[in-house]
Amino acid sequence: MTLEERLEQATRIAHEAGRRIRAAREGGSLQRNIKHGNELVTDIDVAVDRYISEQLESLFPGEARLTEELSPDRRDLSDEKPLWVVDPIDGTVNFAHGHHHVAVSIAWVDKGRVQVGVVHAPFLEETFTGIRGSGAWCNDEPISVSGTRELDASLIGTGFPYDRDARFPLLRRLHAVLENCRDIRRNGAAALDLCAVACGRLDGYYESCSPWDFAAGLLIAREAGARTGHVYDCPEGIATELYGENLLVCTPEIYSPLKSLIKKGDSGQYR
Ligand code: IPD
Ligand code: CA
Ligand code: CA
Repeated sequence: MTLEERLEQATRIAHEAGRRIRAAREGGSLQRNIKHGNELVTDIDVAVDRYISEQLESLFPGEARLTEELSPDRRDLSDEKPLWVVDPIDGTVNFAHGHHHVAVSIAWVDKGRVQVGVVHAPFLEETFTGIRGSGAWCNDEPISVSGTRELDASLIGTGFPYDRDARFPLLRRLHAVLENCRDIRRNGAAALDLCAVACGRLDGYYESCSPWDFAAGLLIAREAGARTGHVYDCPEGIATELYGENLLVCTPEIYSPLKSLIKKGDSGQYR
């Protein structure tokens, strides 16, 4: 199957998943649970993961899957074999609180590199797609990053972990960014933050998150012209495209200045 055909299938699945997410909200009775001590999860996260997983298994039997709710085991990440990486609902807190920044994210990885990705936002009616080496689109129209060259004029997206103790150290870098950039956005869905960089609504994004949060969006941002990387070097022997610690994704011109600024913040040079 060509990459275009894989993307077409992934997009079809993401659209149906999106219809189920919308229908669930309209139905009104979400079951809210807590996993890993502090993470919100609903019955719809699990049901949509099951739907996507069954579809992928029937179309691509035997291909491995990393999905947030049903197959979150990351042991296979250094493997070279094909892998589907799925977040059934990115933005669960938004979903449960009635906000619109919610997405289905599906990526296909081969030899440790993301080849195709789709991020579908059912409430916003936007579908972002990307194919390695071929470009990125929103609702089938080509997209590209903003022309922002100066940190001072840049709007930066970020997010915070569920673990509240892990939030405190991030305040220093937040302080540095707020003092040197136009402003911050915390929209609550990492996949959509990356797509926002891809289509120029944000000029940069930084966060630490899981492969299912960013695999598709990172490809889409890169294909739209973003520079993608990490604030600190990745450990050896890990597929860097699936390594989510201290991700940094920006217009090419602000990448280095934002990286320095974040490091300065981390080192305590801001309060
Ligand atoms: C979360 C969102 C959020 C980010 C968190 C993620 P979830 O994903 O992407 O924006 O800040 O780090 O865990 O839990 O809604 O799938
Ligand atoms: Ca997520
Ligand atoms: Ca999720």
